[in-house]
Amino acid sequence: MKMVYRKALITGASAGLGEEYARQLAAAGTDLILVARRKERLEKLAAELREKFGIAVEVFPTDLSREEEVYRLADKIRQTEDLELLINNAGFGGRSKLYRDQTQEAEQMVRVHITAPVVLTRAALPAMMKRNRGAVINLASVAAFSPFSGAMYSSTKAFLVMFSENLQNELLETGIKIQALCPGLTHTEFHQVAGINKEAIPGLLWMKADRVVRISLKALNGKKVIVVPGCRNRIIAFLMRCPWTFSLMRWLARLGKIRKMAGMKEKQ
Ligand SMILES: NC(=O)c1ccc[n+]([C@@H]2O[C@H](COP(=O)([O-])OP(=O)(O)OC[C@H]3O[C@@H](n4cnc5c(N)ncnc54)[C@H](OP(=O)(O)O)[C@@H]3O)[C@@H](O)[C@H]2O)c1
Repeated sequence: MKMVYRKALITGASAGLGEEYARQLAAAGTDLILVARRKERLEKLAAELREKFGIAVEVFPTDLSREEEVYRLADKIRQTEDLELLINNAGFGGRSKLYRDQTQEAEQMVRVHITAPVVLTRAALPAMMKRNRGAVINLASVAAFSPFSGAMYSSTKAFLVMFSENLQNELLETGIKIQALCPGLTHTEFHQVAGINKEAIPGLLWMKADRVVRISLKALNGKKVIVVPGCRNRIIAFLMRCPWTFSLMRWLARLGKIRKMAGMKEKQ
């Protein structure tokens, strides 16, 4: 990681990739604002990072599936003039098919994966524009290109890819960098929360969270907007988009075997 950011705000910092971003940025001397629902986890992590790295860490418990809380966090961002890095990382995997969804999981996913990143990015940009410096990382997924990953999950992640790419084009003349990170299977709490049986997926396909985050932060120094970490994930993303294999992938997805192999449990 070359560039050192003065202050970063990370959503979904209580576990997985978000916690890993917090650890790597803290080690580089970046002050942090940590956001998620589980306040105790955030406070424990904040105390550890203050002690270990001597940085300033603030905790801002927020449920991003609640619109009023997203706007409260946006106000906090507007008041944080020295925010140089925003990481829209919070997310979850859906468990229900849309026609069976009785818990408004779909609407919650839209708010966490789409509304929150858009509202928070818009709040962060004016101060970054003023300094002509800053970066926004949006946690998308290889699922953004995939016909296997569920109507809501794939489409909300695809939104983040196109949002990032086109936003970077709007900001071409500025010193602001936008990234859509598209990890594949990564060891975190994600699959447990989504009811996916990790054991059923070959070990070869997994990456560790620390490596994914290192690749993401390093890529902020380069020109790429869409960053797919790991060689295998790049091959998978290519196969899903290449015209020669596109139809084959769609045919496989219709067999429905992939979701069954992954042991997806559906909430009824
Ligand atoms: N792991 C993978 O294989 C993988 C692959 C591709 C993309 N991703 C993406 O990477 C991002 C991070 O996921 P992860 O793998 O690190 O999963 P994780 O270990 O389950 O962490 C998810 C984080 O999001 C937070 N979160 C979830 N719903 C929230 C809400 N309503 N309000 C605020 N925070 C919320 C959680 O905190 P609280 O529960 O405390 O609120 C937690 O900190 C997600 O956007 C995910 O879609 C993951």
